[in-house]
Amino acid sequence: MQVAALIVAAGKGERAGGDVPKQFRLLGGIPVIARAVDAFAGIPVHIVIGEGQEAELAAALGSRAVASVTTGGAERRDSVRAGLAAAAASGVSHVLIHDAARPLLPRAVIDRLLTALHTADGAVPVLPVVDTLARGTTTLGDTIDRATLHRIQTPQAFRLDAIIAAHDVWTGDAPTDDAQVARAQGIEITLVPGDAALDKLTHPADFARAETTLGRWQP
Ligand code: C5P
Repeated sequence: MQVAALIVAAGKGERAGGDVPKQFRLLGGIPVIARAVDAFAGIPVHIVIGEGQEAELAAALGSRAVASVTTGGAERRDSVRAGLAAAAASGVSHVLIHDAARPLLPRAVIDRLLTALHTADGAVPVLPVVDTLARGTTTLGDTIDRATLHRIQTPQAFRLDAIIAAHDVWTGDAPTDDAQVARAQGIEITLVPGDAALDKLTHPADFARAETTLGRWQP
């Protein structure tokens, strides 16, 4: 099994606020995207960035070497497809697709995904839902059994040809992750334990939370 990582970082990150896109902001003195690259030590990393962000990426990466840098598209899926093509050109058999906006990635999660790939074409890290969930708009509707629900994180691991083929035939709305694209083609996806540190940086307060996590960080 030859594995590459694909980090998608072409989003505008507008919900996170700040003067620069969240993937280039500093977290504990290190750019968010550089932390994601460091997490994949020993695995070649393909990066997808927004148009014209080459200089920002170079400044953020410093001396870190990456396998390729590709320009993404308007939707996350467009960016993923651009990166998958770059990974395929490198000749690997499997890919770990990761959001740059999840910079605190424990090695244990990567190892669990790689182990799962020995027996499955796909694997994703998940966390349990701890709150009660219910439907409703202005008044409370039915409660949903949370025991059967999961919070799905990245990296998401796939056999490369399988996830490329799944994206090729996807006709649904803009998907928020790749596992749903894979599922639509019947690819069986193994669930492995995720990690709270992996929660995505979406809103301004998420940076403060991540700085706190960093205080006790053991990658
Ligand atoms: O917007 P959201 O937080 O869901 O984005 C998840 C990840 O996908 C981020 O790392 C973001 O940079 C990336 N993305 C992308 N291309 C887009 C939209 C999002 O690479 N067009």
